Amino acid sequence: MASETPSVVSIPKLADHVGKEVTLQGWLYNKRSSGKLHFLEVRDGGGLVQCVMAKAEVGDETFAGAEALQQEASLRVRGKVVAHPKREGVFELQATGFELIAAPTDPYPITKKEHGPDFLMDHRHLWLRSKRQHAIMRVRHTIVSAIREFFDTRDFTLIDAPIFTPSACEGTSTLFETDYHGQPAYLTQSGQLYMEAAAAAFGKVYCFGPTFRAEKSKTRRHLAEFWMVEPEVAFTDLEGVMDLAEDFICHIAQRVLERRRPELTELERDVAALEKIQKPFPRVTYTEAVAIVAEERAKLETATDAPPLEWGGDFGAEDETLLAKRFDRPVMVHRWPEEVKAFYMKRDPNDPRLALGVDVIAPEGFGEIIGGGQREENLAVLDAAIAKHALPMEAFEWYRDIRKFGGFPHGGFGLGLERMVAWMCGLSHVRETIPFPRMLNRLSP
Ligand code: 4AD
Ligand code: MG
Repeated sequence: MASETPSVVSIPKLADHVGKEVTLQGWLYNKRSSGKLHFLEVRDGGGLVQCVMAKAEVGDETFAGAEALQQEASLRVRGKVVAHPKREGVFELQATGFELIAAPTDPYPITKKEHGPDFLMDHRHLWLRSKRQHAIMRVRHTIVSAIREFFDTRDFTLIDAPIFTPSACEGTSTLFETDYHGQPAYLTQSGQLYMEAAAAAFGKVYCFGPTFRAEKSKTRRHLAEFWMVEPEVAFTDLEGVMDLAEDFICHIAQRVLERRRPELTELERDVAALEKIQKPFPRVTYTEAVAIVAEERAKLETATDAPPLEWGGDFGAEDETLLAKRFDRPVMVHRWPEEVKAFYMKRDPNDPRLALGVDVIAPEGFGEIIGGGQREENLAVLDAAIAKHALPMEAFEWYRDIRKFGGFPHGGFGLGLERMVAWMCGLSHVRETIPFPRMLNRLSP
């Protein structure tokens, strides 16, 4: 006669069942044995737990069956929940039996030995099961919910932007072209232009979705497909945009620290560095930043190959790292040479060589995480910029309408989710920050 099956419990809920018999459903993560005991580490997606199986308790047949279990076998384990004898808040299962759901058909390819990043990326669909990837994805989840919470509690309306677009938004990056029923269409680089239209309709808006960049850059910070959150605000200026960016970043860091301590520990993240993310962030002009980069560069003991930054040039990754050395929190670089910024940036009324843009550079060498600024609201100035950037005027008729019918000062920014995840988790490469990365040489799995 089948014995009664104890109720199925998830690993994070084990604390509520101490002293009781439960069933876990999951996969075998690891197994050690010592004579008459098996230590089965089982994961169920929510967590990991050690199940101690004594031969004396389960009998020879079950014990031998457990001996044969391979990594990633799916199974149900029954047992009594006990508090870990030494580690507070940790629970174990004293196994009384198990049921194999499916044995792996092949040896699990990801083993304890060191694997190279390409091998792991080829097995991304399996690699996601590992402790470290689990921790990263949970931090990502928390960042996404903190982003939504931030805007949703500040009267922003979510307005989704389209993915197929008829024209470019960011002149500085390249487009993925698709065949849209016989006419070219491009995968969006940014929802910003649509958010500007939406800001005139709703005041404060944001979009949050995938964006695409086709440039052939193979760096630690570039993905071909990444998620961007883009707020846009009516009746604000560059200062207002910087205030918003500062509050936003502090809010996200705060939530990660509150909710993801165990994951940060798993990732060996220096939490003290994250605790320093507090207002106010230093604000330096582009011109000041160029000087700081030159000073920091002069201090380097070993010369770098990167060409020195000249006034008028865009920052490279190396320049961002040099600038960030000066500060223990994000630094906001504002008022850029208009030449290096997109057509929609408002010119600085005090210096027409400059655009009212801002980049937020993360500390510890994590680089640019936010780009944004104040938008040009004057139609004549905008038209001149569209012409100067050799953009097709017809494609921007609707965008010009935003200025024709009640022009208004406005601005916003875009934050790259994956760069934020890399920074919070302390990862040197963005490839691990998104479940299935799309990069120059990677389209699968
Ligand atoms: O600086 P970007 O290009 O700005 C815009 O697209 C503006 N239209 C946003 C706006 O004002 N609404 O991109 C914004 C951010 C960058 O700071 C970076 O964090 C991220 O998007 N980003 C990338 N992340 C991963 N891979 C890439 N290839 C990225 N390109 C930009
Ligand atoms: Mg940028």
